[in-house]
Amino acid sequence: MLTTQERGVTDFYAPLKARGSAIEQRYRALTPRSIDAFRRAADVFPGGYTRDALIRDPHPTFIASAGGTRMTDIDGRVLTDFWFNATSLALGHAHPAVVAAIAAQVPRGTAYYAPTEIEVEHARALLPRIPGAARIRFTNSGSEAVMMALRFARAFTRRVEVVKFEGSYHGSYDDVSWSVSPKLAEVGAHDAPVAVAETAGLAGASGRVAVLPFNDPAVLRAYVEQHHASIAAILVEPMANRIGLLMPERAFLAEARALCDRFGIVLVFDEVIAFRVGYRGAAGEMGVTPDLTALGKIIGGGFAVGAVAGGAEILELSALHGGGRVTHAGTFNGNPVMSVAGRATMEALTPETFARLATLGEHARAGLAKAVHGLPLQITGAGSLFKVTATAKRIHDYRDAATADKRWESLCSLALLNEGFVLTPTLSGCISAVTTRDEVDALVAAFTRIVNG
Ligand SMILES: Cc1ncc(COP(=O)(O)O)c(C=O)c1O
Repeated sequence: MLTTQERGVTDFYAPLKARGSAIEQRYRALTPRSIDAFRRAADVFPGGYTRDALIRDPHPTFIASAGGTRMTDIDGRVLTDFWFNATSLALGHAHPAVVAAIAAQVPRGTAYYAPTEIEVEHARALLPRIPGAARIRFTNSGSEAVMMALRFARAFTRRVEVVKFEGSYHGSYDDVSWSVSPKLAEVGAHDAPVAVAETAGLAGASGRVAVLPFNDPAVLRAYVEQHHASIAAILVEPMANRIGLLMPERAFLAEARALCDRFGIVLVFDEVIAFRVGYRGAAGEMGVTPDLTALGKIIGGGFAVGAVAGGAEILELSALHGGGRVTHAGTFNGNPVMSVAGRATMEALTPETFARLATLGEHARAGLAKAVHGLPLQITGAGSLFKVTATAKRIHDYRDAATADKRWESLCSLALLNEGFVLTPTLSGCISAVTTRDEVDALVAAFTRIVNG
């Protein structure tokens, strides 16, 4: 038996879902070439995809080209991008400064079996912006950056267990593929979550990974006080992507910092997305300094990238002297094309640019908040990022976010795509430095129309 309040919530989501097949039919009519391309993709890629993040029902939109905030799909539709390759293009597509940097580099060669001055310059430009970091190593993805951060932490502490938080996504490395999006029926007690495998093929979490609730300093303290002798790292997103692009409470990060200091544990911030939040990343915004930072996305200017950065005492474990060395290879680490694109991007991302991004991001969140006033929809996010979650619950941790009506979210996202706006199927969005106020207003207007049926 539903309560009156629950019936009200159910009723709110029902009309859009009732229009679901009409929304999908319109999408199919707008994207015949994508349908055909997706069929051909399924001949070579399992399920038609080579990248899970792009999964969208009933099929993805194939893109032919992009510039600024606009992408043109293979059917010739022009779409306004509000996700910029999963937040990685802070300056939008094909920014002139990035294109010029790449165009100057490509004729000189794209990769050498040798270091370059270019990678050193990129590193020098980045380091002062990463709180607590004096050394950096480039990788080719955020996943690799997290993997290396955990290897450094385990080598430094000579301990094995990593504490991660329920609902946090840290890439595709096995030791972080636990309780990323578990079903609520499987998660166990709030203060003692079950580590739920996110994928088949994992070797087991026992002794290697512990899962705790996000944003709960008391549960974290109780766990660490009991188990600190075996804990190498606390791995935390200082802005939680899958929990609504949500900034944690500062007390939670401060508790993690204090526990790491007290027990000799390495505090790892995963800033693969969060670095987009401010000139010195989320750590800078929150005023909490980690021991290690995993980076990716925007620092590569649109190319495959990752990096692990931190204090010399940990990162120097990769220097060539001494026993117990942390090895770290990678054919394309510090690739020169990535380095020039990344450097051009970071140069353009001045404190003033971040201030503008934050103002326009706030404008987007305020517009969306106005549209959902009184409805069972939550607006979260920070800086240039925003998310709509289809739940009546205020979002504080994964279990709140997981109450979302995913079908409503994906249909709303598809309806927006039919109107020419690209967000994720879970209604995450971001702006770039070239996004205009008019584009944000147009998105909010389309969203308002869809929400109001
Ligand atoms: C917080 C976070 N960490 C790590 C990763 C993994 O990065 P990559 O996709 O470059 O491997 C992502 C990717 O979305 C992420 O959002």
